[in-house]
Amino acid sequence: MKQFLSVHDATDIPGLIREALEHKANPWKHKNSGNGKRIGCLFLNPSMRTRLSTQVAAQQLGMECIVFNVGAEGWSMEFEDGAIMNGTTVEHVKDAAPILGNYVDILAVRTFPGLKDREADYSEHIMHQFIQYAGVPVLSLESATRHPLQSLTDVITITEELQQHPIGKKRPKVVLTWAPHVKALPQCVANSFAEWVGAWGEVDCVIAQPPGYELDASFTHQATVVHHQEEALRDADFVYVKNWSSFQHYGTLPEVKENWLLNNEKWSLTHNAKLMHCLPVRRNVELPDELLDGPHSLVTRQASNRVWAAQVVIHKMLHP
Ligand code: CP
Repeated sequence: MKQFLSVHDATDIPGLIREALEHKANPWKHKNSGNGKRIGCLFLNPSMRTRLSTQVAAQQLGMECIVFNVGAEGWSMEFEDGAIMNGTTVEHVKDAAPILGNYVDILAVRTFPGLKDREADYSEHIMHQFIQYAGVPVLSLESATRHPLQSLTDVITITEELQQHPIGKKRPKVVLTWAPHVKALPQCVANSFAEWVGAWGEVDCVIAQPPGYELDASFTHQATVVHHQEEALRDADFVYVKNWSSFQHYGTLPEVKENWLLNNEKWSLTHNAKLMHCLPVRRNVELPDELLDGPHSLVTRQASNRVWAAQVVIHKMLHP
């Protein structure tokens, strides 16, 4: 694997899931495979799970990992070509990225969308400049439109759960439902999840969201898209809960008249479904305590599995 930016870099998803679960069963099996190599993790935005799981994964591969929180600690970075830098930005990505590429063997980058300019965000303007100028393989720790390590984790977690608790159905029903939030969030996790389960092809995916919150169809074209949450929940085996802001009215929060906050009563419509969320979650806004603390929740295991997604991907990037 030369880079990891999206599902298009994963040629064999079942094989990747299988190998990730092998790493989980034997975390130190490849403890020398990264000897003498270094990964640099560059965060333009905050993180807990992505940062720490990537560090743990690199350590378990015998690789050195350095982390730089550009957004909090670094010089303010400029991404516009030809910019006259007489404002707040101090360092152009054209200057920074080649230096970072000289320090590390793999450059991992997290950047969020601005949610103001859809064209710029969906062109992956920032991530592509790191790819263009770093001169080393780039690993996405979440970009403007996708969160591929999260999505790989999600399909690993579904597979693992089905192996441990078979549901007696050939094709599980997986629902991705929009949930309320207090602020505008990116579409990345939802886009990426839809894209990964579509490419994986092992589940029936239904996406439920209020009118005005439809995702970009290029990510969701293999899913069934509905506007009624309860209709979607019926007989679901997995329910992935996530907020996202509008794609059509880009980055805004169109008014929602119905109550999209889940509860135990709505959950009873499901086929004893397992609950997924990428975290962090705003309790009792996005999801109630009764579900997060209840017997259906997979969220802690899902977050723990971030290590195995990172480990299998870094291992494959070290040994393409
Ligand atoms: N799910 C996820 O990416 O978590 P962090 O933002 O804490 O990395």
